[in-house]
Amino acid sequence: MLLEKKVVFLTGAASGIGRECALACIREGASVVIADVDPDQARQTTADLGAAALAVECDVADGPSVERAVAAALARFSRIDAVHNNAGIASPSKPLDATSEAEWDRLLAVNLKSIFWTTRAALPALKLSRGAILNTASLVGLIGQTSHAAYAATKGAMIALTKCMALDYAPFGIRVNAVCPAGVWTPMLEKWAAEQPDPASIHTYLDGIHALGYCPRGDVIGDAAVFLLSERARFITGCILPVSGGAELGYRR
Ligand SMILES: NC(=O)c1ccc[n+]([C@@H]2O[C@H](COP(=O)([O-])OP(=O)(O)OC[C@H]3O[C@@H](n4cnc5c(N)ncnc54)[C@H](O)[C@@H]3O)[C@@H](O)[C@H]2O)c1
Repeated sequence: MLLEKKVVFLTGAASGIGRECALACIREGASVVIADVDPDQARQTTADLGAAALAVECDVADGPSVERAVAAALARFSRIDAVHNNAGIASPSKPLDATSEAEWDRLLAVNLKSIFWTTRAALPALKLSRGAILNTASLVGLIGQTSHAAYAATKGAMIALTKCMALDYAPFGIRVNAVCPAGVWTPMLEKWAAEQPDPASIHTYLDGIHALGYCPRGDVIGDAAVFLLSERARFITGCILPVSGGAELGYRR
């Protein structure tokens, strides 16, 4: 068991990649705080995952909400060994000039400023546990994407933040890493696919962008997350790990 007796505070854990990460962590012996803005879905996921999961309502874009969620986690488990910043939104899918100020602000608040809030709230507990932080970034933060400028900008910033946080918190024994999925079938990806000009061709397109030939489900991210949060990765920090089936690799035909 790679995460025995560990407590993982996992945002956006009610569905999609977060849910798969929660499942993987629990399988490896962890208790997981399902911190999500959707309380009904969080309760449903918690019921599915069993006694090692605790549902906590949390809007990662709202500082006081994050503070309350971290306090609830500490009240229940008395420790936090890992924070996995996974909650995110991907809409709208537009070039920058077509993005409204409200859309820009919302993307930055949910995907990026959220890390500011979780770090401020949970760092004292992570210092005590000499814990780990994991950020779900995206391959588009490294290589870009058409018609997704604001989203890609949040993910690029997350990657820079991961490296800075790794440096700042290394003296406390806290490791900070990021995973970069390419495509993963989740409710978010289904929504993005529906926004594309030719939704019918999207499955073929998404299989094709991955060198390994298919668009995966979230279990591939769950396995990578368990590794990065575990002692097996004890000398790995500031790592931006593509979990992408080789989608970023060069010319292909
Ligand atoms: N699915 C993909 O193809 C893909 C690819 C690269 C990166 N990612 C990243 O993976 C992460 C998870 O994405 P997903 O595909 O599982 O999405 P999803 O929409 O399926 O799940 C996201 C979860 O986050 C929660 N959430 C949304 N806003 C929140 C907020 N303000 N506070 C707390 N919780 C909130 C939702 O309720 C939901 O449970 C995101 O950061 C996303 O950018 C996804």
